[in-house]
Amino acid sequence: MTAWEVEQLRTQLGEAGAGRRFVLQGGDCAERFADCNAANITNKLKILLQMSLVLIHGSKKPVVRVGRFAGQYAKPRSEDMERREGVELPSYRGDNINRPEFTAAARRCDPQLLLRGYERAALTLNYVRSLVRGGFADLHHPEYWQLEFVKHSPLAAEYERIVGSVTEALQFMENVLGVHPGEIEWVDFFTSHEALHLTYEGSQTRKAPHREGWYNLSTHLPWAGMRTAQLDGAHVEYLRGIRNPVGVKVGGAMTRDWLLGLLDTLHPDNEAGRLILIHRLGRLQIGEKLPDLIEWVGESGKQVVWMCDPMHGNTRTTAAGRKTRHFEDIVGELEQAFEIHAAAGSVLGGVHFELTGEDVTECVGGARGLTEDGLGARYETEVDPRLNYEQALELALLMARKMMRGAIS
Ligand code: PEP
Ligand code: CO
Repeated sequence: MTAWEVEQLRTQLGEAGAGRRFVLQGGDCAERFADCNAANITNKLKILLQMSLVLIHGSKKPVVRVGRFAGQYAKPRSEDMERREGVELPSYRGDNINRPEFTAAARRCDPQLLLRGYERAALTLNYVRSLVRGGFADLHHPEYWQLEFVKHSPLAAEYERIVGSVTEALQFMENVLGVHPGEIEWVDFFTSHEALHLTYEGSQTRKAPHREGWYNLSTHLPWAGMRTAQLDGAHVEYLRGIRNPVGVKVGGAMTRDWLLGLLDTLHPDNEAGRLILIHRLGRLQIGEKLPDLIEWVGESGKQVVWMCDPMHGNTRTTAAGRKTRHFEDIVGELEQAFEIHAAAGSVLGGVHFELTGEDVTECVGGARGLTEDGLGARYETEVDPRLNYEQALELALLMARKMMRGAIS
């Protein structure tokens, strides 16, 4: 990718921070090499496009789409080791590092995997680009994005109604207002991943011709995970040195000094769109923690882009030992995020989800009332549970309804 695209994303993120755009960031918790195929990538784009159409309708703003893809291959883990039936092996850390199968050979770190990851990131990006260039993401043809099972979904009618209304608005702008179609026809995709493996990131960090500074050209938007956001840590030191917009995940343990330190270190020039604070506090903690975070940023006088990740603070383990998330917790955290920002006079610029375009059974709840007992049917994630296609669309519909009721600006 080019520094020009990275700059373009920073400009758009700056607009989101000021409330003129809305950001939808989403994709797998961990991409798998085995899923780097046309069908899987297409389905991921389809759900992001469908959700963004719904969000455009709800927010009346352009939506910036950022995939968690083309490089989301390295995972931080809370435990170094995993135990199963008395056997202990190193934890799976993402396909760039080792393999998920529970054998000593699979769990050994293999540096060759970094090259395989690099190849797949390039293939993914190339495929996304050719789909977009071929007209797949043309707003005039939302029928391209229909996933097979949308027809059987209880949400189909509402989605179709929104498609109709956006199509009508598009025709109105073109035919009546004479807005040039070239400006609105295409929707872009940006890429993002956690900047965890610093050798992988560093080796793709370059000087761009005719520009100041260094760019991470492996992704438009790298972010520091909650576990690697220490002020004196290597990850913050790396992110400090690049010109990309950078995200930081903010959990419940964040303190005032730490946050102000991050603002000083990562955001010294206070450029619009440079720093994205992705809070992931959990449904039960957001009410207590988020107002302080907003206040501390206010004290600093700096502009940031606030995003809500309602996934990572709401992970639970079932009695059967599976990681899951409850749809109501996710909705509950999101709704509070919108309300708290509005009450504080701050702007929620976007949302960050773990989702897939497939019909998996990893999160509980949603319109189909998936229960813990039903999780076994198609539980595929190697790391965190993702919203399935219908749950993701339902979430977008709920957000759009809330935005239209005016609770959100
Ligand atoms: C993630 O985004 O997959 C992740 C590990 O998040 P966090 O750093 O917020 O826990
Ligand atoms: Co995750």
